[in-house]
Amino acid sequence: MRSTTLLAVWLSPVVVTAMPQADPKSGMSSWAASYFPNARSGHNAWLDPQNDKTCSCPPLKSSTPSLIKPANCPDPKTIPNAKGTLKDNECLVGGIMGGDFFNPCYAPDLRNGLGPGSGGRSVSDWSGGSGPHKAQFFTDPSLPNHTIYAPKTPVTGKKLPLLVWANGACESDGSAFSNFLTEIASHGFIVLANGKPSKVWGKGGFSMPGGEKSRAAQLTKSIDWAEKGGAAKFGEIDMSNVAVAGQSCGGVEAYSASVYEPRVKLIGIFNTGVIDPARRWMLKDIKQPIGYFYGGKVDFSESFITQDFREIPASLPAMMSSLPVGHGGTFSEANGGKFGKAAVAFFKWNLQGDAASKDLYFNKTSALYKDGWTIDTAHWTQK
Ligand SMILES: *[C@@H]1O[C@H](CO)[C@@H](O)[C@H](O)[C@H]1NC(C)=O
Ligand SMILES: *[C@@H]1O[C@H](CO)[C@@H](O)[C@H](O)[C@H]1NC(C)=O
Repeated sequence: MRSTTLLAVWLSPVVVTAMPQADPKSGMSSWAASYFPNARSGHNAWLDPQNDKTCSCPPLKSSTPSLIKPANCPDPKTIPNAKGTLKDNECLVGGIMGGDFFNPCYAPDLRNGLGPGSGGRSVSDWSGGSGPHKAQFFTDPSLPNHTIYAPKTPVTGKKLPLLVWANGACESDGSAFSNFLTEIASHGFIVLANGKPSKVWGKGGFSMPGGEKSRAAQLTKSIDWAEKGGAAKFGEIDMSNVAVAGQSCGGVEAYSASVYEPRVKLIGIFNTGVIDPARRWMLKDIKQPIGYFYGGKVDFSESFITQDFREIPASLPAMMSSLPVGHGGTFSEANGGKFGKAAVAFFKWNLQGDAASKDLYFNKTSALYKDGWTIDTAHWTQK
């Protein structure tokens, strides 16, 4: 039972309490079936049937979730370096950069790689964030499979940068990271999260809806929507300052939606990295500055993030920050906790040109360092 709870934390920063005992429909282990109720017997568990049909996705090699790396995993050196596009690969959970994100051949043994996360400090926070613009999430029929985070009162007189976000576990619940994303919006951003919300603003606790996974292509769809003026009633969007970010599985969706996307100016990778060795070459194609954030040695993503940090082009500005709290970060604390503070500073620095926010990363006695962050700015070439 302990390992089941840990895996739930890996999949999402929220805590799951009840698990079904068996799944006769898919024949999968019970924890997997609880996340993927659409999975069919003998079929790839990580693809939902609807997308499988509409995208003609190639079948993925592994559909048996496991906490233990199987003995028969292929040698990464033998995997062909086939190049792809987002369109070709949008049916993969995690997108092109994740490949088969959940393939136990590529994910390490997770039993010691998750850490504590926020645990008892998780709250449902409806405060509207700590920034100058109280914010909340909204839905809009013109973008039905997403959740919109915006200041409650439309901001006039300045354009708002855009953040498009992919949830941990590639979850299709746009309210899964509501504390964290509300906090960001309160600092003068419009945030579009994958998936409609599983609750209404101000009501309901944590949830784990499971079911259909999000797709990297949803991030692109959010940018399209904003570009066509979809968000006009929430404020004027600054399309020259667009960031794509995500956590865990969502982080590789963020990579996937950024690597060939000229509209994206900045990338945020939280608690993940390129896991599939066959996709690592794409790191060389990245053009946008990146902020990496992870949960210290107890977060299994450390090995991927630190490897990515080394393999991206030497000239690409990147910053890597680590706080020893585990894979779940502090996203479910009030205002997203210390990850919320660090993310706000990163986005204000890079998308709003806020010099004080930049100082938080480069001044070693700043509030971020006092919070316990270890920050590597050696790769940030644009001083
Ligand atoms: C929203 O998701 C549903 C279910 O996957 C799908 O049928 C519908 O086409 C999607 N709508 C849009 C606008 O993408
Ligand atoms: C660094 O931050 C500290 C604390 O905020 C501040 O007192 C100090 O002046 C800053 N140093 C520089 C060089 O900006």
